[in-house]
Amino acid sequence: MHGHRVAILGATGMVGREFIKILRQRAFPVSDLVLLASDRSAGKTVTFGAQEIMVQETTHESFEGVDIVLASAGAEISQEFSPIAAAAGAVVVDNSRAFRMEPDVPLVVPEVNIEDARNHHGIIANPNCSTIQMVVALNPIHLVNPIRRVIVDTYQAVSGTGSNAVDELMEQSRTVLADGKAEPKVYPHQIAFNLLPHLEPFQDNGDSREEMKMLHETRKIMHAPDILVSATTVRVPISVGHSEAVHIELTEPMTPEEAREILSKAPGVVVMDDPSNNIYPTPWFAAGRDETFVGRIRKDISHPNGLAMWIVADNIRKGAALNAVQIAEALIQNGWL
Ligand SMILES: NC(=O)c1ccc[n+]([C@@H]2O[C@H](COP(=O)([O-])OP(=O)(O)OC[C@H]3O[C@@H](n4cnc5c(N)ncnc54)[C@H](OP(=O)(O)O)[C@@H]3O)[C@@H](O)[C@H]2O)c1
Repeated sequence: MHGHRVAILGATGMVGREFIKILRQRAFPVSDLVLLASDRSAGKTVTFGAQEIMVQETTHESFEGVDIVLASAGAEISQEFSPIAAAAGAVVVDNSRAFRMEPDVPLVVPEVNIEDARNHHGIIANPNCSTIQMVVALNPIHLVNPIRRVIVDTYQAVSGTGSNAVDELMEQSRTVLADGKAEPKVYPHQIAFNLLPHLEPFQDNGDSREEMKMLHETRKIMHAPDILVSATTVRVPISVGHSEAVHIELTEPMTPEEAREILSKAPGVVVMDDPSNNIYPTPWFAAGRDETFVGRIRKDISHPNGLAMWIVADNIRKGAALNAVQIAEALIQNGWL
């Protein structure tokens, strides 16, 4: 059978299950699929087309003969296993934060900087979900009229935290509707019917780690070392779909019409922008879709070179699994494996 031996590390998780779905949906050339998770899941079976594949416990020997690893089991697991997989000859597309800022690890969003993947040394990092959708929409504008400063406020779905968090939102919602008391486990506070301006630990400067990722990863992906990004990242009580209110300061003024024209031709972007007819993207609409949706494009009335917009994408697809599979497809198509 033609194709590549592919391993999914974290195959039973939110992102891992989406990897399996996307490989089938895109007819990815898989000759053999190895599903890896912790010892808790070993022995479970997963359907892949006509096959029933057994999940295996991840060990240092799991990667022998594997061509491509799609890793999404968290940073600590990636720290341990990704270098082992790369040393065994595989190329790892890693969804965790473990290697993103390493100078010799490409950090790739295919619509923006796929050429960077050419120079990999066995590990390619998939960026943070909130950064991916933002750069897909901002880079085409930046190429025409360089962006100096970005202010972004995010509205991020609980699926970004994993399947435990989705379960917690559902359970707490039922409990609150039944007049009960919701006990937080995954987050520091109740998430049902609430908002938490807290994603990942707070840093010494008062920003959260998620907020700092949006600065550093944007600079690396867009090759824009001087771009300024100030983010406020917020967890919202919805299951799938991240939304972002983005304000940009450009080098020169740009009309909303010009921005719409640029974005309507941009790869991976769909403009949905007719507010008077209630047309703008929502996370409910974006869930399960592949594109990054942009609407509410207008002048930022606080700055002569400013534009404001609303950017929405499925955080588990474009924000994680789809972006990684697109990278793997480009490796195969360009002979960069
Ligand atoms: N943009 C992005 O790239 C993006 C987006 C979302 C998440 N992520 C990353 O992906 C990671 C997973 O996210 P998720 O939402 O899929 O989380 P999840 O639903 O909690 O799934 C975690 C996965 O990791 C596996 N795992 C846990 N401990 C393991 C171990 N010791 N050895 C091997 N596998 C182990 C789990 O297997 P068991 O079922 O056996 O426990 C499960 O398959 C996150 O931690 C985050 O770093 C990245």
